[in-house]
Amino acid sequence: MSRQLMVAGNWKMNKNLIEAFTLASEVISKAKKLSGAVEIVLAPPTPYLHTINSMTKDLSYVKVAAQNCHFEQNGAFTGEVSAEMLNSMQLAYVIIGHSERRKFFGEHNNILSRKVSAAINEGLKVIFCCGEPLDIREANTQQGFVQKQLEESLFHLSVEQMEKVVLAYEPVWAIGTGKTATPAQAQSMHYFLRNLIRAKYTDKLADNCTILYGGSCNPSNAASLFENVDVDGGLVGGASLQSDKFIQIVNALSN
Ligand code: PGA
Repeated sequence: MSRQLMVAGNWKMNKNLIEAFTLASEVISKAKKLSGAVEIVLAPPTPYLHTINSMTKDLSYVKVAAQNCHFEQNGAFTGEVSAEMLNSMQLAYVIIGHSERRKFFGEHNNILSRKVSAAINEGLKVIFCCGEPLDIREANTQQGFVQKQLEESLFHLSVEQMEKVVLAYEPVWAIGTGKTATPAQAQSMHYFLRNLIRAKYTDKLADNCTILYGGSCNPSNAASLFENVDVDGGLVGGASLQSDKFIQIVNALSN
């Protein structure tokens, strides 16, 4: 089994130019002291992608992700960024399906399916986010909810394409709220997700698929989340905005 461990920092719409380069420099210099067992992914705002990607060139295990892309290759879509553009900057990853994109920008499963295809066709790897809102969790129907998200946005991919996907389980009620899923809740959902992939694709793909947990992940709770067999790392928002906290989370996965 060759499952890649990963901690990705989603900076969202935070940091001005100077702050962004300072944060990236700090993370890169701290990452140089690590073993490289964990892939570190930085997802800064779009205007900083190119420069921060260039800064990571000499560290094979620090990669850069865009937070979004459009589903068309180019055209009259003012303000948008295409997967082709991201690929031309040699970015490794793009995050697709984040709950904030779903909520504030109306990105539904079928739009996300087109974005996933656009990214994969351009050779980008995708960090695909899924997760249920609070009312779905309270009704205990979260498994069916995330299953639909995967079926409608990911399961059109071939085995070879699906190998380029990292899943991130992010319960919406835990994002930016300080409320984390318990390690048992995370493990249970990650196990369920892995078995969905097993049923649709192959054992090998399911066993090798990296599945991240996201939602108020921080240095205090990271180790207990990561010690679960199906939790392969984290997608971190707030705590990725300070290099010390972010590296502590990376260390929680390395140890
Ligand atoms: P949070 O965000 O760590 O601030 O909860 C996680 C995410 O939205 O990816």
